[in-house]
Amino acid sequence: MATVVLCVPPDKSISHRSLMFSSLTRGTTKVQNFLFAQDCLSTAGILKALGIRMRLDPKRRRVEVEGRGKFSFTAPKGVLFAGNSGTTMRIMTGVLAGQDFESVLDGDDSLRRRPMQRVIRPLSLMGARIESHNGRAPLRILPARLRGIRWDSSLSSAQVKSAVLLAGLHAEGRTYYRERVPSRDHTERMFRLFGRPLRRYKGFLIVDGRWELESPGEIFVPGDISSASFFLAYGVLRPGVELVVRRVGVNPTRMGMVDVLKRMGARVRLVDKVDYAEPYADIVVKSTNLRPVKIRSEEIPRLIDEVPIIAVLASFAKGKSVIEGVDELRVKESDRVEAIRGNLVAFGVDVRVVKRKDRIDLEIWGGRPLVIPKRIRTWKDHRIAMAFGVMTAVLGGDLDRIDDRNCVDISYPEFWETLSRVSQGVDYGC
Ligand code: S3P
Repeated sequence: MATVVLCVPPDKSISHRSLMFSSLTRGTTKVQNFLFAQDCLSTAGILKALGIRMRLDPKRRRVEVEGRGKFSFTAPKGVLFAGNSGTTMRIMTGVLAGQDFESVLDGDDSLRRRPMQRVIRPLSLMGARIESHNGRAPLRILPARLRGIRWDSSLSSAQVKSAVLLAGLHAEGRTYYRERVPSRDHTERMFRLFGRPLRRYKGFLIVDGRWELESPGEIFVPGDISSASFFLAYGVLRPGVELVVRRVGVNPTRMGMVDVLKRMGARVRLVDKVDYAEPYADIVVKSTNLRPVKIRSEEIPRLIDEVPIIAVLASFAKGKSVIEGVDELRVKESDRVEAIRGNLVAFGVDVRVVKRKDRIDLEIWGGRPLVIPKRIRTWKDHRIAMAFGVMTAVLGGDLDRIDDRNCVDISYPEFWETLSRVSQGVDYGC
């Protein structure tokens, strides 16, 4: 069996946060293995526009940030543009809510359609003054003095959690935040890394407005499990290969896809695990015949960005798979429920979107003959493009059928090159 070794881009969520935290801290922080892709460059651009000095070195994948403390930002000259990045816009709204100057955050057409009320509501309760267009960008954030609140969120969203916790750093008193199902905990880990581990009380995370952060000096960003998931799927579906993805972040709050792969019968294992602030390991997969799977709503936060590729896997597993509670996918970079449904139908898969009283489920009947459609739509959404790129490659189809392949640039600019090299069995040796 041929072994193919590859590396995936650095983690997007951790890259965003490493710049934000470094900017709010006194001292210099070196971010090693930063993701030089459009979304994280939007965050860098905004922080620079707020007066933060940073040296970006794309060749070495390194950024050096000179922080001057949590109230050191200066008023921006123009609109702060978050591009396609929901993480940038939502978390930066929390960072900017308690500043003493006005700022305007805007984004591309897709970002302007995404709901921002979820951050505006708790932040307004803290005293923030945010003007929006019916809860959507552009957002005008007026100067305000914040006070701590206790927010019991019905939504499981790491972006909302991070916005409120970082606003709490600029607020008077303590801010308490609780969510029903835990979302990814990179922000909590950053607080710890920057010398302020969050205390917990009855499930609430607590931030004290008096805190100053302390730079750890250096941060290493591991590979992105969400980017790796496309190749893990490829390795499972493509007979005769063993695929090794090196130094991938294996934070337990992001590992839903690996659990699902195991439940589907895939041969997947973690080797050489390193217990850093954000743990990482090599992930090894071999091809297998898959079983269908049932994924419950409570599992969704741990695999939220992997649903498109899991839907692709389910199409190859003989029988009925169910992914429950996919509602949040409707408000991602595209309406991913519709994008998944539309593309699966085009590939000849029997798929149904079932609207229940309190949630939306995806039902997929896999294991039937598949066809490669003439045109594969991306909806300008990176994860839809990559998921259906993998499906096309596994079926031996031509990747030119995928419209607008450039949309992967926001998280994984080298994706198509890597996919074609991996398809040819070329070892990256990284
Ligand atoms: C992210 C959180 C998730 C995820 C997104 C990145 C983050 O969004 O889908 O790609 O970095 O905090 P939600 O917080 O809206 O679930």
